[in-house]
Amino acid sequence: MAADEVKTDIDLEEDGSNEGRNPPFQTAKGVHDILPPDHEYYTYIKKIVRHRCRQAGFRRITTPIFEYTEVFKRTVGEASDIVSKEMYTFEDKAGRSLTLKPEGTAPVCRAYIQHGMANLPQPVEFYYIEPFFRYERPQAGRYRQFWQFGFELIGETDPALDAQVILLAQRIYQDLGIADTLKLQINNIGDLASRKVYAEALKDYYYGKERYLSDEDKVRLQKNPLRILDSKNEDTIILNQSAPKFKDFISAESREYHEEVLMYLRDLKIEYNENENLVRGLDYYNQTVFEFYDEKKGGQNSVGGGGRFDGLIELLGGHPTPAIGFGMGLERVIAQMKRNKVRVPSKDDLHVFVAQLGKEAKRLCIPLIDQLRSKGIKAMGALGKPAIKNQLKIADRFKVPYCVLIGETEVREGKAIIRDMTVGSQVTVAFDKVVAELVKRIGEKSLDFYNPKDPV
Ligand code: HAM
Repeated sequence: MAADEVKTDIDLEEDGSNEGRNPPFQTAKGVHDILPPDHEYYTYIKKIVRHRCRQAGFRRITTPIFEYTEVFKRTVGEASDIVSKEMYTFEDKAGRSLTLKPEGTAPVCRAYIQHGMANLPQPVEFYYIEPFFRYERPQAGRYRQFWQFGFELIGETDPALDAQVILLAQRIYQDLGIADTLKLQINNIGDLASRKVYAEALKDYYYGKERYLSDEDKVRLQKNPLRILDSKNEDTIILNQSAPKFKDFISAESREYHEEVLMYLRDLKIEYNENENLVRGLDYYNQTVFEFYDEKKGGQNSVGGGGRFDGLIELLGGHPTPAIGFGMGLERVIAQMKRNKVRVPSKDDLHVFVAQLGKEAKRLCIPLIDQLRSKGIKAMGALGKPAIKNQLKIADRFKVPYCVLIGETEVREGKAIIRDMTVGSQVTVAFDKVVAELVKRIGEKSLDFYNPKDPV
């Protein structure tokens, strides 16, 4: 094993170098490190979503990592899985109950009210890219800290807006190369009044059938009957097929609203499946709800979802304000991109590795690397390693297209060797021509300058 390679836990056990030490720490259950190769995906996705959001007039917002617990209790719903069992809630030293954000919509609405944004021309449009926290049972695609990109459009209601929000999500999936493998499912869950009547009808239907339900579904039936439609329990799925249908309880206005949303989707050639069991796990929704999922994949197959939440701002103490939004989990998007073999461009690739032999060469290396970088060339050396062989192993690991070699002879003669690693050829050039020669070879277009005008 090369000295610079990372030793895994297994290596440490095998070579005995871990003997007598405490076992190394691991990440806490359900969370994960984002290592450099995956960061390339995160960076790429962030670039795509920022671009699409800017095009559509959305502005970025970041709310704090924690909020008062009440923000979520009141909006996401006391009976929802998120609030009843998944929140990371703690007390601060003054006894205030705080919660690590399990989702982004309620905090954005809290900010909208707090900063008087109802006075701005409406709608006000936000997007965010943030980590969220849910104490869920970990499995593939389901984490206790996960990243989500989301956007919210606050202050207006119209079926055309709902279609536009779905279109924006769809375009983002297209840009990411995964739209073909995702299906949109959509439903209209009506207004609060019709949902209450429907909830009672569901309770009546399940009266006497409780023994077929899992403990979880029994609780759902008591606390939040509509969630039973979302059950993954086989018996419940069968019973749900003959349960009262929401479409028989929905108001004529909601039905008309829904038909209009579907009409726009057809105009936009967005394929959809109507799913009358789609209720989503957060209580704040009304009217349109939708989800993008991978039909072929079982388990955690929802790659994003959203809906209208016209009552949420009022629940937080604001004036009644209609709104709609969407959120997608970056880990699930990345898994989907990998399944689809979508490659992302790497901005991290180095151009040049500078290798040196001897102290005098090392003295020349530091300013040379600095000059290369200031010309936009991504360059590194391995100044802590004396042996050329070990230095070149690093060059290999980074797959650099060019190496500069400075040995004792080169120092004496004021020269350096430039080796083209792709073809294996090399030339010797005067030391003061090295930077210009490399700029010429790498080409203007590939140079990496910090441009203050570039979006950050
Ligand atoms: P959500 O459906 O709870 O909605 O989450 C949105 C997306 O986040 C999911 O489709 C999934 O991709 C991802 N996600 C959720 N939980 C996890 C987890 N434990 N691990 C990995 N990924 C996860 C919301 O959060 C709403 N705030 C979306 C929204 C915005 N509705 C209106 N505006």
